[in-house]
Amino acid sequence: MRNAAAMRNSALLVLALLFTPLAFAAEGEGAAAPVDWASWHAGNEVSNTASLQRGARNFFNYCAGCHSLKYLRYSRLASDLRITNAQLQANLLPAGVTPADYIRSSLAAPDAVAWFGKQPPDLSLAARSRGPDWISRFLRTFYSDPASPTHSNNLQLPNAAMPAVLSDLEGVKLAVFRNVEVMVDGKPSTEKSFDHFVTVLPGQLNAAQYEAFVRDTVNFLDYAGEPAQVERRSIGVWVVLFLLVFTWFAWLLKKEYWKDVH
Ligand code: HEC
Repeated sequence: MRNAAAMRNSALLVLALLFTPLAFAAEGEGAAAPVDWASWHAGNEVSNTASLQRGARNFFNYCAGCHSLKYLRYSRLASDLRITNAQLQANLLPAGVTPADYIRSSLAAPDAVAWFGKQPPDLSLAARSRGPDWISRFLRTFYSDPASPTHSNNLQLPNAAMPAVLSDLEGVKLAVFRNVEVMVDGKPSTEKSFDHFVTVLPGQLNAAQYEAFVRDTVNFLDYAGEPAQVERRSIGVWVVLFLLVFTWFAWLLKKEYWKDVH
């Protein structure tokens, strides 16, 4: 009996040894196409109110400590996102702030400069100046970089002064670069080019959940960049419907008039 077990164990060991090089070889060959992060899209929908509400919650939990939205009032946000006054008071309003106030960060400018080297920019217009895709890529391409003062770096904004504040949720990842041959002024030279990420510490969310988290957050910033767009889009539908009905009436009227002429 004991012999049989020992034989089975050594057989397993041989099998494992046989397949290990294969596994490594497969990984080497798997270096197919590099991850094309630059073509990632935000995929957000400003008409999705539930997503905007989740995005607002994300913003206040993870961003408002450093970033303001100085053109948006709490009251406006609440009415656009269909948040009741009670919910606003209980969940979003900081102590001593009224619904009529603009959304300001509690971070004092001198502290920000001391800690990050610069002040975190106001994000009211970020979605308009950078675009939702840019922000989405920014939030998804932080990677661990011990050489940087924040211990992290970013593909979309290299040497960003913003720390990887979402790593609790996303996990910590390393960026793997490979050398590529490029021509600089007619001379061949090697350059580092991003290949793929490797997660070294998983976060609280899996990849799909983190993507959804970023989509909602970017959606909220997209809304904040132009709060009127939510209303404008829903009015737009009625305007088009009205024009269609009006065209139909105009056509009936024209038919009526021309009947006499003929
Ligand atoms: C600990 C402070 C801190 C927190 C928290 C933080 N940021 Fe930042 N953020 C910064 C700093 C500092 C910069 C400036 C980066 C630079 O220019 O190098 C920045 C820059 C940005 C930019 C780039 C703006 C631009 O156009 O250059 C975006 C977008 C952004 N943050 C979004 C967010 C979002 C979304 C969150 C919440 C999930 C967040 N930040 C949380 C500190 C922070």
